[in-house]
Amino acid sequence: MDEIILHKRKIIAFIVLKYEKQYNHKMSKMQNIKQIKKYQPFIKWAGGKRGLLSQILEKLPSDFENYHEPFLGGGALFFELYARGLLNGKKVFLSDINEELINTYLVVKETPLKLLEILNDYKDKHSKEFYYKIREQDRNQDFKKSSSIKRAARFIYLNKTCFNGLYRVNKKGYFNVPIGSYKNPNIADFETIMSASEALQNAEILNISFNQIKDYAKRCDLVYFDPPYYPLNNTQSFTSYNENEFLDDKQRELFNLFETLHVEGCFVLHSNSDTDFIKSLYQNYRIDFLKANRFINSKSSARGKINEVLVRNDKWKEQRQLQN
Ligand SMILES: C[S@@+](CC[C@H](N)C(=O)[O-])C[C@H]1O[C@@H](n2cnc3c(N)ncnc32)[C@H](O)[C@@H]1O
Repeated sequence: MDEIILHKRKIIAFIVLKYEKQYNHKMSKMQNIKQIKKYQPFIKWAGGKRGLLSQILEKLPSDFENYHEPFLGGGALFFELYARGLLNGKKVFLSDINEELINTYLVVKETPLKLLEILNDYKDKHSKEFYYKIREQDRNQDFKKSSSIKRAARFIYLNKTCFNGLYRVNKKGYFNVPIGSYKNPNIADFETIMSASEALQNAEILNISFNQIKDYAKRCDLVYFDPPYYPLNNTQSFTSYNENEFLDDKQRELFNLFETLHVEGCFVLHSNSDTDFIKSLYQNYRIDFLKANRFINSKSSARGKINEVLVRNDKWKEQRQLQN
């Protein structure tokens, strides 16, 4: 009888030890995740603001309530503000009209580990044939019904392996960027995706057009507009990130929203190209000139430093006094 009890105790001790080891391993992995923070965009995005962050940060108000970024793209400013602790305790509203992009943000927020599992698989399978096989998926009628995690994995995989990280769809809405020539694309970037997931936990992520943020933005909120830029000249047509173009009418619509939010008492910042059209539209507001490296043009002769503007409503103080 004693021997049986001893045997049972040994088995229990063995099981406890085994689970303790597994638990410790998990915990040390979690701690490693906590130590390696990479709060930065997890995708490449045309017009990404990483090169301009220090110049934009200088123009931010010293304090604000909630934060809104309605032309989200890669979300460079959002991740930078989060990394600096400037969004602590605030509500964050991130939105974009691109449905596949927003689906990807939601998956990164909710199920990053499952997403990484698929990305690791795609990383192993990566080849020219595999790229075009994945690219073709949106030609299938049932594509929108497929699992959100698979669609997000496709989005990130194509983003990391296509030519220049461009996002371009044809008239039918099919992604049509050819494969890029990267030797070792970072398809399953564990640290960046896990850090992004953490940063997104308090964010409301919405697939809406910019005008709809009127329903969310309140007095003293900070709103950052980074729309597709007004073209520098007639031949420059890279203003179409999806089916929708962003020319004179849309820019005017955005200007009206800028004014509405100004009257509401929000702090509004707006990046755009240094063009007469934009400068005359915003002539009653404060305009600063920033130097930017632009790489959205595939012709190397058209790359390099160009000017862009950062418009802000520095009259917000007067506006708030009027309201009080
Ligand atoms: C210049 S990019 C934003 C870049 C971003 N700030 C970054 O750091 O990567 C412009 C974004 O506006 C989005 N967009 C275009 N038209 C829009 C609309 N009507 N409403 C909301 N977003 C729109 C595009 O899908 C694209 O992601």
